[in-house]
Amino acid sequence: MSENDLISSLASESRSFAPSAEFSRQANAQPEIYAHAAANPEAFWAEQAHALTWHKPFTKTLDWSDAPFAKWFDDGELNVAYNCLDRHVENGLGERVALFFEGEPGDTQVFTYATLTEAVKRAANVLADLGVTAGDRVAIYLPMIPEAIISMLAVARIGAIHSVVFGGFSADSLATRIQDAEAKLVITADGGYRKGKASALKPAVDEALSGNACPSVQHVLVVQRTGQSVEWFETTDIWWHEAMNKASSEHTAQAFAAENPLFILYTSGTTGKPKGILHTSGGYLTQAAFTHRNIFDLKPETDIYWCTADVGWITGHSYVAYGPLANGATQVIYEGTPDAPHPGRWWEIIQKYGVTILYTAPTAIRSFMKLGRQIPDAFDLSTLRVLGSVGEPINPEAWMWYRDVIGGGSAPIVDTWWQTETGAIMISPLPGITHTKPGSAQVPMSGIAADVVDDHGHSVANGHGGYLVISEPWPSMLRGIWRDPERFNETYWSRFHGQYFAGDGAKKDADGDIWLLGRVDDVMNVSGHRLSTTEIESALVSHHWVAEAAVVGARDELTGQAVVAFVILRQDEIADAGSDADISKILRDHVAKEIGPIAKPRQIMVVAELPKTRSGKIMRRLLRDVAEDRPIGDVTTLADSSVMNIISGKIAAGAND
Ligand code: WTA
Repeated sequence: MSENDLISSLASESRSFAPSAEFSRQANAQPEIYAHAAANPEAFWAEQAHALTWHKPFTKTLDWSDAPFAKWFDDGELNVAYNCLDRHVENGLGERVALFFEGEPGDTQVFTYATLTEAVKRAANVLADLGVTAGDRVAIYLPMIPEAIISMLAVARIGAIHSVVFGGFSADSLATRIQDAEAKLVITADGGYRKGKASALKPAVDEALSGNACPSVQHVLVVQRTGQSVEWFETTDIWWHEAMNKASSEHTAQAFAAENPLFILYTSGTTGKPKGILHTSGGYLTQAAFTHRNIFDLKPETDIYWCTADVGWITGHSYVAYGPLANGATQVIYEGTPDAPHPGRWWEIIQKYGVTILYTAPTAIRSFMKLGRQIPDAFDLSTLRVLGSVGEPINPEAWMWYRDVIGGGSAPIVDTWWQTETGAIMISPLPGITHTKPGSAQVPMSGIAADVVDDHGHSVANGHGGYLVISEPWPSMLRGIWRDPERFNETYWSRFHGQYFAGDGAKKDADGDIWLLGRVDDVMNVSGHRLSTTEIESALVSHHWVAEAAVVGARDELTGQAVVAFVILRQDEIADAGSDADISKILRDHVAKEIGPIAKPRQIMVVAELPKTRSGKIMRRLLRDVAEDRPIGDVTTLADSSVMNIISGKIAAGAND
């Protein structure tokens, strides 16, 4: 959605919904929480950290002397996996269900806290036997199956560092991430089920490792999920089930320093190279668990929680793996796509397990909305009592539909703003307190200092817009970019002195509530997934037909934004290439192969020139006008103002596919 559209849709949005008195009374978070946190934020976070079990208690809360590199609870020691597993079993909760796994074909598995703990202990022994020790990196490239969570926790248990790579990324993207982190081990599967069929994963790992492209990798552990045939490399490959069967189920969790790295998660930035966002242990787990308990009002004894995110994204780290398990929650995980084998699959799962808390993305809500309410209406969704949204601004229409059709008109909606970098939710309503407004994430969490500032870094008055910043350190903040401290400083801390720059535009309404307006940099948000314009441009120009490419994120009803690419072709190379439509298809597939299907452009427009400033910078703003079919804006800074006439004329003539 463009900024102007969003601001005008906000202007007319003045509804707000108070939580019911009944909900407020029983809510975990009560109104005093805000004043209590504001009185002494550090003491507030120390209090929250005490909800974890520390092998060695911390005496210091925050060390910000080496800003922007924070240390939280620095002299404390804990084990993240112990906090998510063993301690619940020791507290007599071993029989409580931790995971209800629903496979796409309809197969199911149930893990209690006792059986999940045992599996993680075995997996920790498998890793140790393979020579993985504290500080080593392990790449995890798996479908959404229990082994994904077991692997993450096993890596955490031995103090190693995981780098989960979303299963939809290509072999090239996987290789880049393995190389950057110098992973010693890769955990993958033969395949997973998606859209009604077995979809292979192992070949992408084989391709990534081929020709010794990733010399750091010593072994590949392979989960057998689909039983499809796989190529086997005797020197590296090991079946997960064979190793697990042989491994001991005894494993004592050791303590690690609070600042021991827990994971790296790669995310798109404004350059072609993804950033390895680094998170550590004590502060991360504190904030993930705290926010999960309070924002979703989790009652671990009775709630059935379901977050639909894949573990390949930060939401799957903080709100599938770590937050819920640290809190002893019972949750559902689902392997497949929402429409397999029928478009009511999600609602069927909610009915089957009696899900009470649902956390999902606006793009999913919009696609269900498009299919019509008769699909969810056919299922009993009356158990739902809290609904969450994440990943992109949720448009008020989708918010209202979510509330009325899925939440039965009463379940509070928490629109949660945060990022891979922030590690946990930063801005969100609290469901028993906040009078929620459709489309706004509204208030910084207790203990969090978020603001909207102008170009000079000054806080804007209510009713005005600017850039979102976080002005004080927070426990789950990133500790840097893997092996690139300069880029960390430059990307987040150089724009506004002493404040974290999130890269998002935002506005404060008359009540001071925060509305997110989308990215202000060259990052797109497609179906809640972050993509870099530059990365897709590099993928396009790596094809020998393409001389130059410019990519923009254009407004899209379903996916929020969609990738639209403008390309200039090499005339000498394309003599036999076929029609523009053929060219477009081949280039779209090329991007899918280079990065992954999520980065595939919706449209490729073949043009003769690109609009550039006199200094040679591509004016993406003008291309966005074309892509969104709007009148073209100010062209006075263009080196050659006739270019836009040529481009829009050519588009009108139907050169796009
Ligand atoms: C966007 C996802 C508006 C935002 C957890 C941010 C949102 C980027 C919201 C981070 C929201 C996320 N309202 N925008 N509730 N949540 N965003 O790293 O642009 O995949 O900077 O983390 O998503 O995406 P990431």
